[in-house]
Amino acid sequence: MMRVERMTVVANRSIARNIFELTVTGELARRVQAPGQFVHIRPEAAGTLLRRPISICRVDGDQKRLTVVFRAEGSGTKALAACRVGDALDVFGPLGNGFPTDRLASGAHALIVGGGIGVPPLYELSKRLAARGVAVMHVLGFRSACDVFYEDAFSALGPTWIATEDGSRGFKGRVTDVIAGEGLRYDAMFACGPRPMLQALAAMRGDKPLFLSLEERMGCALGACFACVVRVKDDETGTAYRKICADGPIFEAGEVVF
Ligand code: FES
Repeated sequence: MMRVERMTVVANRSIARNIFELTVTGELARRVQAPGQFVHIRPEAAGTLLRRPISICRVDGDQKRLTVVFRAEGSGTKALAACRVGDALDVFGPLGNGFPTDRLASGAHALIVGGGIGVPPLYELSKRLAARGVAVMHVLGFRSACDVFYEDAFSALGPTWIATEDGSRGFKGRVTDVIAGEGLRYDAMFACGPRPMLQALAAMRGDKPLFLSLEERMGCALGACFACVVRVKDDETGTAYRKICADGPIFEAGEVVF
């Protein structure tokens, strides 16, 4: 069940250009059920600032800790970036449906594809798939070498390819270039990143399942404001609309109309 909780900062550090890794502790961490879920979060001292939706990057229920990785770009995320150990945060969650890790059996191959700030929720996903005996591979795309994060963490779980737009680290080009160029084969693909990247992956998936985390600017995160609607296929009416915050953020490719 989701809840609002006062959580405490136990670590906060910069891990790439404008990217921060923030770990908090509290009972709410025990309630996270699936990778790909998110929380709504703001510093308690931030006054009237709205909570920001941020996906959960890793969770340790036993230690009651969860970690989010975010880009500091607006007032809400800059306030989070400035938090210090011991600060109190106002956290609402966990929210969202999460990735269906049970769709792959032990021994199956999962291709996990992330772009930029879409990468963080894929780490907990990969950990949980690997724990089920699924062979995980990762292709992670960034703008430049100074934007790369979690390369070692992903590499510890399975083969990991890095692509950068300017070629300053790993492959020069896009994640789809790596997948095609390396001839990667898989039983299911999981992805989170910019909409054009997700569209390109959907176009190349063939008959394999592809699960997408749709990142949109969210308002209420409760299904009330319609800030986050996405078009989906509907058997009766042709198309229908779903709210990413309440019905997602994970959708299966083929369901979403880009
Ligand atoms: Fe308000 Fe989704 S954020 S309906």
